[in-house]
Order: sequence, then structure tokens, then C-alpha cells
Amino acid sequence: MADRTPLMAANWKMHKTAADATAFLDELLPEIEDVEGVDVVICPPLTALPAVVEALSGRGTRAAAQNMHEEAEGAYTGEVSAAMLTDVGAQAVILGHSERRQYFGETDEALARKIPAALAAGLLPILCVGELESEREGGETEAVLERQIGAALATIEAGALADIVVAYEPIWAIGTGRTAGPEQAQEAIAHIRSLLSRIGAGGADAVRILYGGSVKPANAVELMAQTDIDGALVGGASLEPGDFAAIVRAGA
Ligand code: PGA
Repeated sequence: MADRTPLMAANWKMHKTAADATAFLDELLPEIEDVEGVDVVICPPLTALPAVVEALSGRGTRAAAQNMHEEAEGAYTGEVSAAMLTDVGAQAVILGHSERRQYFGETDEALARKIPAALAAGLLPILCVGELESEREGGETEAVLERQIGAALATIEAGALADIVVAYEPIWAIGTGRTAGPEQAQEAIAHIRSLLSRIGAGGADAVRILYGGSVKPANAVELMAQTDIDGALVGGASLEPGDFAAIVRAGA
């Protein structure tokens, strides 16, 4: 197995003001100071991003955005570009989160343009994929993952694979308290790795693939024990510093 540094990402979604973010990091950072060998990424709402960047300055922990537009600039009211994110100090960006796909019309085609745009700006893309409950029940999980990965990474050069993080987030497990079982998550993530190896033969082994969907301190250790699970994308449990610190420690 390739040596992949675990990555724990906090996806705050539409929670926390700049002041809330600073207070959170004042509590979190001392708690994870002694944790070694785990990359940590905080994804606040855009308005709190500068405060998070400032609080993280000089630390290993990175600040990330939750979405971006694929164009560099233009008449796209309400949108921001990759260069605008790096301008305020973001180092990564979540792309294709299921909530963006479900509620805001995010498409695989747009993602195929967003990922190279993020890479070109020096942002680490965290590409989210995952099936609906009806798709899992219909035995379509693998086909859905194949379609999502194939489309989003269609324009990626094999050599760029290692600069991308993929998050497997079964939609039925997000915010529902229903985590995929560790073996279920491992199986889907191993499948994603095999899909990645079609794009970039050797490179797939270096790609970090996270699990997301109701990750909590109580289930993080067993999820992280799976061979192909390299970290977690955490929503609800990342809003509380003690819970997120416990999840970060589960990655060590
Ligand atoms: P959750 O969210 O941990 O609240 O299920 C995960 C995510 O949507 O990234």
C-alpha cells in the first residue's frame, strides 16, 4: 500500500460566522497540536474564510472553500473563482458535494472544468462522489461512482491524480446518523481506487480517498482502520471542537 497521509476535513456547510470560527479554532488547535502525521483541513463558509486563514497562519492546518466557479472571472452573480479563493488564502476546495449536486444543480460536466481550474490555481480539490439510497438498493452504486469519477476526472492528466483528494459520501449517510458500515465504505472506496487506476495506472495508489457521512468520534477509528480509507470529510461532528479533535486523533 502506498504511504498516504490521512486527511481529516471539517465541512461546516452554512454554519459559523467569522467570530464563531475564531472561537472554534482557539479551542481546536491546542487539542490537536500534538497529533502527528494527519493533515487537517477546515472548510468554513466563504465569509469566515479570511478569519480561518488568519487563525491557521503558521500552522499545518489548511483552510478550504466549499465550492467555486470554473471560470476565472465573468458575469456570474454570486460566484467566486479559484484565483479569488487563493487570493484570500484558501489552499483547498470541496467540489461536487452532494448538497451542491442536489440543491444547486452542480453537474459532472461543470466539475470536469472546476477540477483543472482548481489545480491550475494551486488549490487541492476534494471531489465528492456518492450514490443515493435508491441507487444503492438498485445495485447501481458501482455504476454511479464510475459515472461520477469518469466524468469529473475526464480531463485530468494521469500525473495530476496525486494532487486530488476524493471523498466517498453515500448520500443516504449524510446528516442522517446512518453511517455506511466500515466494510461497505471500504468496498466502495476500493472500487473508486480501481476506477482511478484506469485513469492513471500507478497514480491511483497515491490518491487519498476519504469517507464522509455521519462520521463521529464513536465510529471514526473503525472507519480509519480500513485499508483504503484515508481520512474523513466531516459535517455535523466538525461543528464542535472536542468532537472534531477526537476524529482528527482517530487518523493518527
Ligand atoms: P455529516 O456530513 O458528517 O453531517 O453526515 C458530511 C458531509 O456532508 O460532508
